[in-house]
Amino acid sequence: MNVLFIGDIVGNVGRSAVKRVLPALKSKYNPHIIIANGENSAAGRGITSTIAREFYEWGIHGITMGNHTWDNKDIFEWIDDEPRIVRPANYSSAAPGQGIAFIKANGKELAIVNLQGRTFLPPIDCPFRKADELIEQAKQRTNHVLVDFHAEATSEKIAMGWYLDGRASIVVGTHTHVQTNDDNILPGGTAYLTDVGMVGSMEGVLGMEREAVLHRFLTQMPVRFVVDEGAWQLHAISVQIDDATGTAKKIEKIRLTEDEWLMM
Ligand code: FE2
Repeated sequence: MNVLFIGDIVGNVGRSAVKRVLPALKSKYNPHIIIANGENSAAGRGITSTIAREFYEWGIHGITMGNHTWDNKDIFEWIDDEPRIVRPANYSSAAPGQGIAFIKANGKELAIVNLQGRTFLPPIDCPFRKADELIEQAKQRTNHVLVDFHAEATSEKIAMGWYLDGRASIVVGTHTHVQTNDDNILPGGTAYLTDVGMVGSMEGVLGMEREAVLHRFLTQMPVRFVVDEGAWQLHAISVQIDDATGTAKKIEKIRLTEDEWLMM
C-alpha cells in the first residue's frame, strides 16, 4: 500500500496549492490512500464542512486535526457525522468527534489515529497511553496504522516514534509547519518523521503574515494573525507499506516550492 500524507494545509494559499499539485503527486507516487492535516485549512484556524468536502473531491480520503480543531465552532454540529475526520484522541471523552478512523480506498484499508502532545500545549490526557488503546483497537481490523502526532516538542514526537515502533506503520508529526530532515524507518518497521511540514506561504511565519507575528514578538500585545498570501511551499511524505506485515518499506519526503512547480 502506498500512502501520501500532506502536512498542515494553511488557509486559502495552502488549499489552492494542494488542489493544483495533487494530480501530479498522484501520478508520481501512486498513493492508494491520501491523508492530510486540515486543522489550519480555514483561514489558518480550524476547518469547515465545505472545505472538508472540497478535500474529498480532490481525492483526499481522510483528514487529521490538532489543537485548532474547535476554532470554527460549527464543527461541533457536523464532526459526529463525519467518519473520515479524526481529532486528537486524547481529548476529553465528552468531546465530540473521534480519534481513530478506518479509511478505505482503492481496495486498501488504513487506520488513522490523531494524538496531541502535551509539551508547550494545553494539558490533556496522556497521548502515549491513548496510543496503546487505539492501536490495539486498530489491530483488531488492520495492521496498517498511521499515527499523526500533533505536537510542538521534537523530543515528545521522537519518543512517540520509538514508543510505537513496530506497532504503527507510520508515525508522523504535524503542528510546527517546519519539515524536519529525520525521515527514517525505525528498526521495528515504523516509518517516522518528526514533522511533515505544511502547505502554505513560505514568506510569512508558519503560513501567517510576518508583520503581525513580529509585532506580537516585539510588543507582546495580542495581535490578529492573518494567512500570508505569499508564494507557497508544499510538504508531504510518501510511504510504502508491506501489504502482508503492515511494516514500512520506504519513506520519501516531498518538498516543493511554487517556483519549482512553475518551472516543471
Ligand atoms: Fe497545530
